[in-house]
This record gives sequence, structure tokens and C-alpha cells, in this order.
Amino acid sequence: MTKPQIRPVSGAQYSRIHGVGGYRPVRVIPNSEVLEWIDSSDEWIRTRSGIAERRWAGPDESVAEMSIHAAGKAIAQAGITPEQIGGVIVSTVSHFKQTPAIATEIAERLGCGTAPAFDISAACAGFGYGLGLADGMVRGGNAEYVLVIGVERLSDLTDRSDRSTAFIFGDGAGAAIVGPSDTPGIGKLVWGSDGSQAELITQTEAWDTAFAKSDAVNGAGEELKWPALRMDGQPVFRWAVWEMAKVAQQALDAAGITADQLGAFIPHQANMRITDAMIKALKLPESVPVARDIAETGNTSAASIPLAMERMLESGEAHSGDLALIIGFGAGLVYAAAVVTLP
Ligand SMILES: CC(C)(COP(=O)(O)OP(=O)(O)OC[C@H]1O[C@@H](n2cnc3c(N)ncnc32)[C@H](O)[C@@H]1OP(=O)(O)O)[C@@H](O)C(=O)NCCC(=O)NCCS
Repeated sequence: MTKPQIRPVSGAQYSRIHGVGGYRPVRVIPNSEVLEWIDSSDEWIRTRSGIAERRWAGPDESVAEMSIHAAGKAIAQAGITPEQIGGVIVSTVSHFKQTPAIATEIAERLGCGTAPAFDISAACAGFGYGLGLADGMVRGGNAEYVLVIGVERLSDLTDRSDRSTAFIFGDGAGAAIVGPSDTPGIGKLVWGSDGSQAELITQTEAWDTAFAKSDAVNGAGEELKWPALRMDGQPVFRWAVWEMAKVAQQALDAAGITADQLGAFIPHQANMRITDAMIKALKLPESVPVARDIAETGNTSAASIPLAMERMLESGEAHSGDLALIIGFGAGLVYAAAVVTLP
């Protein structure tokens, strides 16, 4: 008797990004406002980070709300209907409900039917991680189109009295539709993690520890601090500059593309000095436009690459069909880089 065999699954031969969209909160926080919380200067913040202002979400600009706005734009640009979406991946570290995943609410409100929907936690590499999963789903035959969202309300995790982080983080959402393609539109993802450096960027305290403390000091008059993001800036800076430039080069090599063939370089908007150092390390020709969205958006973690991508396309700095090198890196530590065709 022959053994029963599972019917093979076949998906699209290639995938690409069909549409991208972003949402920026209404409220602008200029450096002058940050100076009300920390001892610093506009000049220091600009020269050390490249940031002039950031957006912070208001009460109505929830993780779901911002995601739905961004996704709506990406879906419209892709020219598909929400029912065609066969997967919703939301990358965030600032959605405060442990379960259910915020992705299911977003899928439902967008009209994605019964599409599988789940959240991932990969910090500033989250968009790249999501893109890699979506690419696999489309080519593996488990979805025709996948919605990838990077969304953060990092203002909720920012300690305004912390000089090393108060000026860096911003809020926003970015979304992309990944679907079938006749030609390769997403190169090999070079991704990874280094848990030995997990403490470099981390939440000050786990929620259970904070709550246990809250019980212990209840009524004792001690001030309780909401957990926030803490960062050891210098080692993160060195890691990003030295190690991430190598990862970016590996993504170029894996795609068979040279730096001069790029139509855009869209690194995670962590710090303008990190971007400048990577440009040098990669020997990126001056003719390649570089995303510098951080100046007006701050560091929005998982949202930063799609937000910067949308801005470059809207401003005409980059064009549909161009090749872009994207690289995300951050808390974990985690990273993900790939060459993609711009939608
Ligand atoms: C955060 C960061 C901008 C700080 O810059 P830095 O040069 O490393 O700053 P340091 O902590 O070494 O401090 C240098 C000096 O600036 C001062 N300083 C620190 N924070 C300051 C602030 N907010 N305003 C003004 N001065 C500040 C320090 O007191 C120190 O002064 P001193 O030389 O008189 O002692 C930088 O480390 C960085 O960009 N790291 C990477 C962070 C990042 O991109 N994270 C995102 C990854 S996802």
C-alpha cells in the first residue's frame, strides 16, 4: 500500500510590495517642548540625533486607529480590496493588551474577513521581520496578499525625565501590502538576533514586577514609575554602525545588487548619525537618495521604515519600481535587511 501523500502547496513564484501607507499623529512635539522636561539644548539634540521634532499620539490616535489609517492608504495604492488580504501581521511593542492580538481587531475593522491575523514583537526590525513572513506566506501559497503593519505609541513608554531617551522616540504607523509578482520584488532577508545584548535597550521593568511593587508600596506614599524604555546609547550606537553596515552589505550581495544600482536607501530612522556612518561604510554614492524622515518624525521603531518609504515616494525623492535597501535594527537585539522594489 502506498503511503498517502499530502497535496503540495504552490504559491506565487515571486512577491513584491504593492502599496505603502503611513499615519503621522497630529500633535507635533518640537525640541523646544522636550527642553521643558530635560536639561538639554535644541542644538545638542539636532547634532547628536538629527531630530528637530517628533509626533506624539493623542488619546484618539490608538495603535488600532493609526494602523487602520495607514493600512487604508496601502490598500488603496495596491489597488486591491480588503477581502483579498489573506494575512494581517502587526509589529508593535507598544500595544498594552497582552491578548488578544491587536491584529484581529484591525483585520475585522478593515474588512479582511477571516484572514489570519497576529502580532509580532521585533522592535525596530519589526517591519523587516513582517515583510519576511509575508513574503513566505505569498510564495508558500498560504495567502495571496498580506498586510504588514509597523505601529508604535512609544510616547507611552517614554520617561520624560530620562535625558538619554526623552528626545528620541515618536509615534506613528506604516503599512505595506505584499502580494504576487512576475519578477523578484523582495530580495533575500538577512535577519537575526543577539540576545546576549538584550539589556542594551529594554523596558525598565516587567509589568508583573511593576504591579508587585505597586502592591508593596500601596499606601506607603512612594511614587510609582510606569515602566519605560531604557537605552544604553553608546554601545547601541557602536553596534548599529559597525555590525549593521555589514548586514546591509550582505543584503545587497544576496540580492546581487551593488550600492550604485539603488534608487533609495531606507534605514531604520534611529539616529541621523547612525545613518551617516552607514552611508560611509557602504560607500553609498551621493546619487542615491537617503531617507532622513527622523528629522520630523523621531524614532518610531517598527513604523519608521514604511513611514520613511511613503515620504520618499510622495516627495518624489524615490520612484515606483526603484530598488531600495531597507534595514531595521533595535531592541532584542534584532535586525533585518533586504533589497526591495518600491511600490
Ligand atoms: C543617545 C545618544 C544620542 C547619546 O549621545 P552620546 O554622545 O552617546 O551621549 P553620552 O551619553 O555619551 O553623553 C555625552 C555628553 O552629552 C551629555 N548628554 C547626555 N544626554 C544629553 C541630552 N539629552 N542633552 C544634552 N546633553 C546630554 C552627557 O552628560 C555627556 O556630557 P559630558 O561629556 O559633559 O559628560 C547616542 O548614544 C545614540 O544615538 N545612541 C544610539 C541610540 C539609538 O539610535 N537608538 C535607537 C536604536 S533602535
